[in-house]
Amino acid sequence: MKITFFNQIPLEATMIFEHLFEPELRLEGCDKAALLKNSIAAWMFIDDEPAGEIYGVGHADINEEIPDVDPKDTEYIYLYSMGLLPKFQGKRLSKILMAYWLGQVGNKFKTIDAHCTAESIVPVMRTFGAKFFSTHKNWFDSGREAMYCKIYLS
Ligand SMILES: CC(C)(COP(=O)(O)OP(=O)(O)OC[C@H]1O[C@@H](n2cnc3c(N)ncnc32)[C@H](O)[C@@H]1OP(=O)(O)O)[C@@H](O)C(=O)NCCC(=O)NCCS
Repeated sequence: MKITFFNQIPLEATMIFEHLFEPELRLEGCDKAALLKNSIAAWMFIDDEPAGEIYGVGHADINEEIPDVDPKDTEYIYLYSMGLLPKFQGKRLSKILMAYWLGQVGNKFKTIDAHCTAESIVPVMRTFGAKFFSTHKNWFDSGREAMYCKIYLS
């Protein structure tokens, strides 16, 4: 298996990952372009096929209020999204994707803040030291449960 990472791919190629989410959570192309412009992003390719996507935006570039996140906090990056296409799920690739992205985030932030909306992401976040806080039963009307968590980087 050949695993390759890219920090930029064409926007159109990223839209395939939106199908992993309910309509309420999906991004339109223009919204995703705006988010990616300011993000630290990575795409994982397996044997030259797109397999995974992950991106987060640092506090200074976030233009919306994010539930649970302290608006006075100036030291976090918010992990907006992470996904693997169905063909690549269940193969323990998510920790590899997350580890690569953490390497990109480096020591630029004090915490990674996120909302876990899939059960399989919880052990991934725990592996990297996440602490869990509040839970939302119906995240943005998607029917998903979301658990707010933080990874302390320093
Ligand atoms: C979330 C996602 C990236 C996880 O990847 P995955 O391929 O399903 O999971 P992996 O095979 O990498 O396994 C990750 C861990 O989850 C566990 N796991 C897998 N399915 C699980 C389930 N249904 N319930 C609980 N744990 C589960 C695995 O055992 C593994 O933990 P371990 O290594 O400690 O044993 C993937 O499911 C996905 O893309 N889902 C759709 C998009 C999405 O919901 N993204 C999350 C937004 S927060």
